[in-house]
Amino acid sequence: PEHHATAFAVTRNPAPASDAERARRMDSQPFGTVFSDHLAKATWTADRGWHDRRIEPFGDLVLHPGATVLHYGQQVFEGLKAYRWADGSIHLFRPEANAARFNASAVRMALPPLPEEDFLGSIEELLGVDAAWVPDVEETSLYLRPMLIGTEPCLGVRPSATVGYVLLASPVGAYFPNGVKPVSIWVAQGFHRAGAGGTGQAKTAGNYAASMLPQQQAQDHGCDQVLFLDASRDMYVEELGGMNVFAVRRDGTIWTPRVTGTILEGVTRDSVIELLRGDGRDVIERDISIDELRDGIASGAVQEVFACGTAAVVTPIARLVAPSYDLVVGDGGPGTVTMALRQRLTDIQYGHAEDTHGWMRRV
Ligand code: COI
Repeated sequence: PEHHATAFAVTRNPAPASDAERARRMDSQPFGTVFSDHLAKATWTADRGWHDRRIEPFGDLVLHPGATVLHYGQQVFEGLKAYRWADGSIHLFRPEANAARFNASAVRMALPPLPEEDFLGSIEELLGVDAAWVPDVEETSLYLRPMLIGTEPCLGVRPSATVGYVLLASPVGAYFPNGVKPVSIWVAQGFHRAGAGGTGQAKTAGNYAASMLPQQQAQDHGCDQVLFLDASRDMYVEELGGMNVFAVRRDGTIWTPRVTGTILEGVTRDSVIELLRGDGRDVIERDISIDELRDGIASGAVQEVFACGTAAVVTPIARLVAPSYDLVVGDGGPGTVTMALRQRLTDIQYGHAEDTHGWMRRV
């Protein structure tokens, strides 16, 4: 290990999945529906701080029905992936960035920050016992889902005096059921993801709960993801239900919404900007009005649109749909800039290209 991690006491699962059972469960299941043999846990109390760090057999949580997470959504989470390289070794992508964002989210939700060494240590130790769950098939990985939850039974609205840290691992392939095929996006009608001073920047359950109805409407209109506009003017592009968005323009510039406090500051978003700028491309973080995006797609000034996120990686977007228009981006196929970028990123993540940015961490 390249970093110093805190020890988690390991209790091995007495009945882990057999090789055959694991192989069967890892084979092309919907995203995030299969879990490994263990999980990591730690407990925080006001008097003792973080303690009781363990790796345990995977199983249900025991929660008081009055726990604050169940009533008021006092929760934060992260998403990152462990990749299997051709030599069998396992690598994480920028886990320190996820650790930092986890704690920034925690502060917003009045939850106690988790020391970086515990965040990284829990991942290392979980991978120590569940290494076999890191798939070795192209385009697959072990998705890691750390979370903090308020566990104190209290129906009064105030921060929980006891908090649980839980880390799950789920072997995954592509987020969208059609793999890396271009997806379509629906412009949210009358719904917003986050307002000024709200929790948009925090990775917290409630943001995703609020996205589900508009996401359902996107699906009712035949689209894969909902596109949210800003809450104050209902005009500027913010992000999709669960990923950031970029537009590649004919003039060579690449636009993405600037972060304003209402957008999730994606680790993939940041990495994509760095990769593109490193290639000499002009990435502009700005306000992008939906009219500008619509007109650009219609006129061809916008040649490609893509989504990015840990789960989505880099996914081409081929259609922009709203009640009064249904536009095809470019020729409707995956764009060349988008697909080259996706390849650049995944080559680094899977160890096919040199990691000149220092992003990968071997575990
Ligand atoms: C991720 O990209 O990891 C997320 O947390 C987003 C969610 C749609 C899975």
